[in-house]
Amino acid sequence: MDMDIEGLVIDDRERGIFRYHRSALTSPQILELERERVFSRCWLYLGHESEVENRGDYRRRVVGGRPLFFIRGSDAQIRVFFNTCRHRGALVCRQDHGNAEVFQCFYHAWTYNNAGELIGVPDEDGYPDSFRKEEMGLLSPRVDSYRGLVFVSYNPQVEPLVEYLAGAREYIDMVVDQTEGGLRIVPGSNKYDIRANWKLLMENSIDQYHAFPTHKTFFDYMATIWPDMPRSSQGQGRELGNGHAVMEYPATAGRPIALWTPFFPEEMKDDMARDRARLAQKYGEERAHRMAENHRNLFIYPNLVINDVNAITVRYFEPLAHDHMQVTAWHMVPRDDAGTALATRLD
Ligand code: FES
Repeated sequence: MDMDIEGLVIDDRERGIFRYHRSALTSPQILELERERVFSRCWLYLGHESEVENRGDYRRRVVGGRPLFFIRGSDAQIRVFFNTCRHRGALVCRQDHGNAEVFQCFYHAWTYNNAGELIGVPDEDGYPDSFRKEEMGLLSPRVDSYRGLVFVSYNPQVEPLVEYLAGAREYIDMVVDQTEGGLRIVPGSNKYDIRANWKLLMENSIDQYHAFPTHKTFFDYMATIWPDMPRSSQGQGRELGNGHAVMEYPATAGRPIALWTPFFPEEMKDDMARDRARLAQKYGEERAHRMAENHRNLFIYPNLVINDVNAITVRYFEPLAHDHMQVTAWHMVPRDDAGTALATRLD
């Protein structure tokens, strides 16, 4: 695309100046460039392995403008497919989620198994000898996962996911390592549209500065439960490489795994103290302190935010237009959470 983008961004680190032109947020042409240079080249978040827990479980999702579905096959392997029939391109998977051994295209009834292989074609005798079912299975993007988070890329030359994640790996590890048995996504999601450019949510996700003024009613409500709750704006923003970033700050309201405060039921106090001691023993006091007494708002470029705060929220967003994005958010909890701990976390 022919467009002069020189001068849209001023990044003068010596003078501590970072500014960008407002057209970066309002121009349809810039979004087209981003689709080409960002969403077609990077690793993009797709979902979590726990969302397809059982053999045959599948989820449909649009990522980077492409309709996909991911499925745990009968062989337990997770695969991701473009949701488009190899015949004339109709949608193959027509439900948002479910469990299936086969998918039959509604248009001419080609049938695929849950490993993506084409296993049935009506009137197969009518096709020429050159037609081979084994060459017409569903197609996949590049797929890789890290600690249960599944990513896709449309770039055949993309670097390995672990390299792409760069400094964000340490923070993903801190989220996952809090529990002994791993994490799972709670079924159900919050899905909403925002009439704004996708980069505004990206930036807002690591903007601790807005918390007290913008979320005043939330903090006022918290004060009705615990009037002496410390209010601290302290925190540290860090660039993590490849566009990833984090905001790490003191968890003044507590954390449901290992930092008890009056926001949690008294009966959780002993369990949380035991979890805190376990973290120190396993990871050393310095790392345990960051895991237990700090919150993290982690942004993984370009479409994933993990807010590891009073609860863990996983949020991905999809630009629909230069001034419109769709956001989906899920709660992530320790796999073995149950009873009061789970209820408190969700509450
Ligand atoms: Fe799917 Fe024809 S488009 S069977």
